[in-house]
Parts: sequence; C-alpha cells; structure tokens
Amino acid sequence: MSLQPVGIHDLAIATTHYVLDHATLARHQGVEVNKYHYGIGQEGMSVPAADEDIVTLAATAAAPILQRHGTTGLRTVLLATETGVDQSKAAGLYLHPLLGLPASTRVVEIKQACYSGTAALQFAAGLIAREPEERVLVIATDIARYDFDTAAEATQGAAAAAILVAADPAIAEIEPVSGVYSADIMDFWRPNYRATAVVDGKLSITAYLDAVEQAFADYRRRGGHDLGQFAAFCYHQPFTKMAYKAHRHLLESQGRPATTSAVETAVGRTTDYNRVVGNSYTASLYLALAALLDQPEDFTGRPIALLSYGSGCVAEFLSARPVSGYRDQLRTDANRDAISNRKPIDYDHYRALRNAQDPTDGGHHVVPDETSGPFRLSALTEHQRIYEKTLG
Ligand code: CAA
Repeated sequence: MSLQPVGIHDLAIATTHYVLDHATLARHQGVEVNKYHYGIGQEGMSVPAADEDIVTLAATAAAPILQRHGTTGLRTVLLATETGVDQSKAAGLYLHPLLGLPASTRVVEIKQACYSGTAALQFAAGLIAREPEERVLVIATDIARYDFDTAAEATQGAAAAAILVAADPAIAEIEPVSGVYSADIMDFWRPNYRATAVVDGKLSITAYLDAVEQAFADYRRRGGHDLGQFAAFCYHQPFTKMAYKAHRHLLESQGRPATTSAVETAVGRTTDYNRVVGNSYTASLYLALAALLDQPEDFTGRPIALLSYGSGCVAEFLSARPVSGYRDQLRTDANRDAISNRKPIDYDHYRALRNAQDPTDGGHHVVPDETSGPFRLSALTEHQRIYEKTLG
C-alpha cells in the first residue's frame, strides 16, 4: 500500500442551460414562497434543455479538467449516476469521442442513489494506492425529477461534478479513515419503468439523519477526527436546509450544543451552489465542497468533513484536507459562471421540457438545438443517442 496521499487533483462543475426560480414554482403551486426560500432553503432549480442529459453535463464538467491535465496516466473513468440513459451501456462510453478519452481506459457506471459519486471516489483512491502513476476521472452527474405538484417537486435540480483523482493531489487529500453505514430502507427509489422518483419524504429525512449518526460512529471507531477538529462540514444537500438539520442532529447525538451559530459556521459556507441549482443527487456533495473551497477563506491543512448519503440507503463519513497551493487550482469563476449564465424559464416552458419523453419507436428524431453548452444530444436514431460537440 502506497503511503503517498491520494485525493482530488482537480474539481470542476457543470449545470444546465435553464433555471426555474422557486418564486415562479411557488406561485403556480399556490405555495407560500418562504416555505421554499427558508423552509427548505432553495431559490432555484437547474432544468436541462431538450438537448441536455447526464452525458452532456458530464462532458461539460470533465472537459476543462482534461484540457488542463491531458490524459496522461488516465486509465479509469467512473461515472456515477442515478439518471442512467441505458440499462446496459455505461454512459461514460459516450465521452470517448466527446472528450478524446484514450482507448486504454476502463469505463464503468456506478449506481447507489446519491451516494455513488463517493463510492467512485473511494474506488479511485484504491486503484491509485495500488498504482500511484495512474489517474482516475470520477464524474457524478444527475438530473433530479419528481412528479409534478408534489412536495418533492421543489427539490429537483441537475448538475455534474468531475473530479480527477491522483496521488499527491493539487487540491485536497482524501484522508484514509472513513465511516460507512448501510441498511435496506424504502425512503426513495426509482423503478426502471419510471422517469420520476418515488419518495417517502418524511422517512427519507429520518433515514438520512440516522445514517449520519451511524456513519460518524463508524468513522470514530476507526480512529477518525473528533467533531471539533473539522473546519467545515459538507453534507449531501437534497435541499440546503437538510445540511442544517443533519449537522444539528450530529451535534446533538454527540452531546454538543447545536446552537444556531455553531450550525451556521459548520455548513453555511457550503450551500451557495446547491441553493440555486437544486438537488443534483450524486453531484450535490461535491457542489457543496466546491462552494466551500470557492470561499475566500484559506482551508489549507484543515480537515473538511464530507457526508455522503444515498437513499435506500448507504452513507459514508470521510474527510478532505486541502493542500498547500490548492487555491491556485480552483475554478471559482467558471463555477460561478456556469450557474449565473443559466437562462430563466417560465413555468409553461419548464412543464413542456419535463413532459417531453424520449421516443421509443427507433425512428430518426432530431433533438431541438437549445443549449449554449459545449456538448449536446443531437438526435435519437435506431434506439441510439447521438451526441455532438457544439461551438459553445
Ligand atoms: N415559511 C417558512 N418556512 C416554512 C413555511 C413558510 N411559509 N412553510 C413551511 N415551512 C417549513 C416547515 O416548517 C418545514 O421546516 P422544518 O423541516 O424545519 O420543520 C419546511 O418548511 C418544509 O415543510 P414541510 O415539512 O411541510 O415540507 P413538505 O413535507 O411539503 O416537503 C420534503 C418537504 C418532504 C423534504 C419534500 O420536499 C420531499 O419529499 N423532497 C424529496 C425527498 C428529499 O429530498 N429527502 C431528503 C432526504 S433523502 C436524500 O437526501 C436523498 C435524496 O437526494 C433524495
């Protein structure tokens, strides 16, 4: 086993062409907008254009990483999603022509609700511990869809986070100790025949809180840091208020005072991106980490807690320690631009986009040209998805 640190060598995020704001959604649902702005802590949700999906989001997030680092040492691509576009073929394979991936690469898709991005990160760290010259591209990419006019509709969103995992990382070491927890619970799932998730909202919250406590207990049993040693806590954020609930619960479970200021200090700086992007499932935790690192504060050498939760359920408590010089590697402007460049849409347009379904007849169907992003889904033909690079 290598003693070299392994972790995040580069991190980039991408989101959709469109955004729907929660004031618009609340008005159409007849809901008091403060329920969204304060009750769940959400102000906007990313909405994919007709020619965007998890593949175009993944390619958009990963492209700048490959532009900066090339493909030297890259032998594995792990794409984590719960919005798969095929029951058999790994979505990451579509990235070959879009990104110029080397042929000598293993490409696999990984699924376990919102947790699988973290599984991919840990699998990548294991591969690199065995062969420190290798690099692994991990991409978490998802589009959260719930039924119209349900309580969960306000927690939709979409984004991708791409992470280059390497030895002697330039951004943050992933510390070796982690705590895990899993249980068979039906809090949120999506059968193969459904485009939207089935969810027991209240159960999902208590399941998440229980999993936080159990994963942290395992983390401590394995010698992890005391709560007081962390500079901040990045939680999976299905809605940003959930991070506050989770941290309050963790503090109370450890017999610590869960004051408003203690909770705000721990999680407040992690919510800027998810608050306006919405739930991006596997990517959400890494949008929280990006939002934190993009703050002016210097976190060099200070452990940051990461809590990954995927319904069903699996949770993992781990930590990242930013390394000296990490701020020079950040993509703060690009991250903020990806969010601020989205085009607002009205409610009817959002409904129309959501109501559109992939044709199933195997005919040739051209997809409307909408996105200003660098990659798009251009057609569905003979049951194949055809992607192209744009000039965007
Ligand atoms: N002003 C301010 N606050 C208001 C308000 C108002 N006018 N009206 C309501 N609120 C507050 C409520 O008091 C409540 O606050 P607390 O949670 O602090 O008590 C909050 O807004 C939400 O109100 P409700 O509990 O009434 O909300 P709801 O039941 O209608 O829906 C939800 C909430 C269950 C989370 C729903 O959005 C949902 O089902 N979401 C999908 C499931 C989900 O995200 N689960 C999270 C854990 S599972 C997970 O993390 C995996 C994953 O990604 C899915």
